Amino acid sequence: MRRLIFITAALLLTLLPARAGVLAPGRECVSLGGRWHYIVDPMDTGIYKYHMTLQKPSKRFFADRHFYEDKTRLVEYDFDKAPLIDVPGDWNTQSERLYYYEGSVWYRRTVDFKPEAGKRWFLYFGAVNYKCMVGINNTILGTHKGGFTPFWFEVTDVLKEGSNSLVVWVNNTRGQSEVPTLNYDWWNYGGITRDVKLVSVPEVFIKDYKISFDGSGIDITVSLDGGSAPVTVEIPELGLRKVIRGGHARFCKVKPELWCPENPKLYDIVLSCGEDRITDRVGFRTVRVEGDKILLNGKPVFLKGVALHDESIGVNPGRCRSEQDARALLEAAKDLGCNFLRLAHYPHSEEMVRLAEEMGFMLWEELPCYWNIDWSSEETYANAETQLLEMMERDYNRAAIIIWSVANETPRNPERLSFLGRLIAKVREKDSGRLVSAALEKKLVDPRHAVVEDELAELTDIVSFNQYEGWYDGTPADCDSLSWQIPVGKPIIVSEFGGGALYGNHGSDSELFTEEYLALLYRKNLEMLSRLPGLCGICPWCLKDFRSPKRPLTGIQDDFNRKGLIDEQGRRKQAFGVVRDYYLSR
Ligand code: GCU
Repeated sequence: MRRLIFITAALLLTLLPARAGVLAPGRECVSLGGRWHYIVDPMDTGIYKYHMTLQKPSKRFFADRHFYEDKTRLVEYDFDKAPLIDVPGDWNTQSERLYYYEGSVWYRRTVDFKPEAGKRWFLYFGAVNYKCMVGINNTILGTHKGGFTPFWFEVTDVLKEGSNSLVVWVNNTRGQSEVPTLNYDWWNYGGITRDVKLVSVPEVFIKDYKISFDGSGIDITVSLDGGSAPVTVEIPELGLRKVIRGGHARFCKVKPELWCPENPKLYDIVLSCGEDRITDRVGFRTVRVEGDKILLNGKPVFLKGVALHDESIGVNPGRCRSEQDARALLEAAKDLGCNFLRLAHYPHSEEMVRLAEEMGFMLWEELPCYWNIDWSSEETYANAETQLLEMMERDYNRAAIIIWSVANETPRNPERLSFLGRLIAKVREKDSGRLVSAALEKKLVDPRHAVVEDELAELTDIVSFNQYEGWYDGTPADCDSLSWQIPVGKPIIVSEFGGGALYGNHGSDSELFTEEYLALLYRKNLEMLSRLPGLCGICPWCLKDFRSPKRPLTGIQDDFNRKGLIDEQGRRKQAFGVVRDYYLSR
């Protein structure tokens, strides 16, 4: 009978950060998803001795609190008797008692293992929201913070033949200095929200590779773990093959079929090194800005977009758990006539990104520096930068991603400008082949005159901003007379606009939350935005109604933000047709 095992939490959260990075795709993996036992632990009894409180933990007690089973047992905590929960999956939508829960939950499952000579094993997590500590048998593997990016631990010398006990402590408590911070307009879905995999690789394996196309040549860099050895790279359909000895190779003068929404061409790529062999499917394209235009493969492009959260369609929606969940959302966006998606406000799943690439969506991917982050905290900055690097490392090879966004609706002040300026510099250092943006805010200097002025727009490649004329400001008819003053010389994306309506709620187009009101709002906004010079893209906010604790209005919202063009069950509002007709007309 297993007991809840102890862990030295705060100590671990500083001492053993997880190695952030992504095992190369196409690897031989065993999914550890399924039904895991879980124990809800609101007071972190699994971490702190009874004399301690969360507010002032004592170092001495930490020294006593180790990750072990045999020394201190709490008879009341027995995983084998505990209930079961789906992994991947948020806990909020799997148990009425956890709907609003913010705190700690202990997960456990057993892992049967048989060692093989010459192999190494890694435990991979697609994402855990928000922070976690992971242990196998009596060994603490490490910690991770950030709810939307992958991480992994080597377990080669930890797993034993036969049955192993895998325990994960998860805590989704919001925090002033966290990323995102205390206040945001989506549901704080806690848990092991994306897949867990046990991955086997040879002693020397390809830890990561980066591929990019600059319009004339293909550059590939590879990094190995466990030693050095030549790596063979092949793109058979292009008749390309090269042996890389120094970590980098360039194929010059190649003319691949270019990836674009109309033809999302992907090529098989094979990288091999000794016993190791990985495969992937990659696209080649260029994206850059020229004046107030965005050029994809050298041609101006208009981004017919929509914004969406990583939340499934259904009567009880939660964090997307599968490719099927992602596909349902992407098919709705395709029917809307989109060629562009704003994956708000945090990195979505790898399944979502890969499937969107296959279906021909250009992507805006975003870091959850949302509203008022703790700009003066170095710890917060380090957290944001780690999440940024984990996001970029995971998706660098996805041609569909054309924009990295570092923030959403953040207040103008020197600390924020410095914080985001550092992140933007980091993006440019790591990836010169994509555009950088951030969703800014507009302000009304008077009810009829809107201004977008933000120092951050000098650092980004695009001027993107959110505006809610007809919803938070004015009426839909006021769009006819609103004038705009926006920085010139850069492409403009309206990264959010829209309003709320309850599907099936019909009435006058002057009555809030009716479908008719929302349809009129979109007609008026689309007419107004089309008059903006330098407009290169728009993102209605948003594709689907989504859960938010900020949206309680009984009978209308019931904990859902109703700004979707479809409701949480996928039912289309009248405004869906307004946007679709506009996109089909462009
Ligand atoms: C903001 C914010 C969104 C939010 C939306 C709304 O612009 O960026 O995350 O959901 O407004 O008020 O519905």
